[in-house]
Amino acid sequence: MAYVFGGRRGPAALLLAMALLAGCKPGAEGGYNRVSWRGDPKMPATAFPDPPPVVPGSTAAGGGAQKIVAKNLPSGVTQAMVDAGQTSFGTVCASCHGQNGTGSPAAPKLADNQWIHISGQFPEIVNIINVGVAQPKEHPAPMPPKGGGNFNDEQVRELAAYVYALSHQGGA
Ligand code: HEC
Repeated sequence: MAYVFGGRRGPAALLLAMALLAGCKPGAEGGYNRVSWRGDPKMPATAFPDPPPVVPGSTAAGGGAQKIVAKNLPSGVTQAMVDAGQTSFGTVCASCHGQNGTGSPAAPKLADNQWIHISGQFPEIVNIINVGVAQPKEHPAPMPPKGGGNFNDEQVRELAAYVYALSHQGGA
């Protein structure tokens, strides 16, 4: 009986031959690297109009990076929470409520003291962010709980702080 790849070196020689046959040429993939899209994939590009729309009469008009400063924050609510909430707001809320809460056909403006469901107190804002709006009164589709975002309790309070600040910039 004859063995083609006999002896101890047989298996190693077979592997080497297979690697050569498979054509392992260096650089076959080329130097192309995929460039990942820098934005958050959840955010449609239209949520960040450049420059941001200026709403006549709105005190919230301006760039998305504009710092919102509330005049009379409720006790337990800090400017640091407002700032953190502003960042979170840009991830999901702005897609419906607009950058800086200026409103869109999908959701009401939050940068004013006109409210549909609440009177604008901080605990009410926390609550409505948590539960969402199953039955909108003036807009076509519901707001999911937490706007569909994955926020913990502290982040919800930060979002509420930002919404409170947006709607109380006049110090009212
Ligand atoms: C899918 C669109 C959508 C997203 C995302 C969304 N909302 Fe809403 N939001 C709505 C709608 C619709 C209403 C109710 C409007 C109505 O009744 O006509 C609403 C209402 C509200 C209200 C009450 C407004 C009032 O006048 O009573 C607040 C506050 C609010 N949203 C905050 C947020 C925050 C904060 C986020 C992000 C965590 C968010 N929303 C994400 C659609 C959205």
